[in-house]
Amino acid sequence: MIKLSRVDEFALITLNRPDALNALSLSLIADLGRAIDDVAQSHARALFVTGAGEKAFCAGADIKELTGRSLVEQKRGAELGQRTFSKLERLPMPSIAIINGYAFGGGLELALACTLRIATRNAKMGLPEIKLGLIPGYGGTQRLPRVVGEGRAMDMILCGRTIDAEEAYRIGLVQRLIDGEPVAAGVAYAREFSRYSLPVLGFAREAVSRALATPISEGLKIEADLSTLAFQTSDAAEGMAAFIEKRKPNFRDG
Ligand code: CAA
Repeated sequence: MIKLSRVDEFALITLNRPDALNALSLSLIADLGRAIDDVAQSHARALFVTGAGEKAFCAGADIKELTGRSLVEQKRGAELGQRTFSKLERLPMPSIAIINGYAFGGGLELALACTLRIATRNAKMGLPEIKLGLIPGYGGTQRLPRVVGEGRAMDMILCGRTIDAEEAYRIGLVQRLIDGEPVAAGVAYAREFSRYSLPVLGFAREAVSRALATPISEGLKIEADLSTLAFQTSDAAEGMAAFIEKRKPNFRDG
């Protein structure tokens, strides 16, 4: 149900259950977790996540599987989803969700766990759990407000409102709109940062992602520490030397 492949210097995870709009069954999430572990051990410079088929990135948790679950099973399911998405968020390389159609519920929550998001112009996104008498359970109530702000997150979660790609772009939920082939658009986006030092990109991601979870005095200390760590890398020495020598830097991830 998960296809892991390579596109040039990047890894590509495809949710491969198009008949159910790539809905997240528990076994699909377990497969996803294993694929993320493989990517973590690889030399990929970025990870793309997308959905198989023309219609959907992912239509969320498998509703047919949800019905009839006991409370204990439900809690375990939520924890598995959260754990898997957190593992994706903490990968050593940046990840890009290529939202190629519907991204609802757990599908949007999966995209929110990626470092960046891009969407096709026909994409539709939302957290519609409220319409099922539920609330998001794979990180949506926590990550959506961090990305788009509390008011917009409240609006989307309380109304279960579907937004289109244009609106998602306007509110910063997606960073680019895709014209052309989605994976090629992902590759073009990743090339905007993939030649930079991977560990230094990691320090930048860490500093930015701590910003909203930390009081500013604490956040500034974290930034001072992480920028000092970046300064100590041989890539920083190379980057500054290349500037002075008026040449392109040759970063080696060190
Ligand atoms: N779970 C299980 N099956 C799903 C599914 C889901 N989330 N979404 C779609 N499917 C299945 C449909 O049942 C259908 O299968 P059958 O042909 O066997 O009936 C197939 O995928 C195609 O779906 P539709 O016929 O509904 O396609 P559509 O184009 O008419 O509508 C849609 C597309 C608007 C996305 C609609 O499928 C839909 O609303 N899906 C549910 C979206 C949703 O509510 N997601 C939230 C789930 S709860 C959650 O995610 C909790 C959490 O926080 C983790």
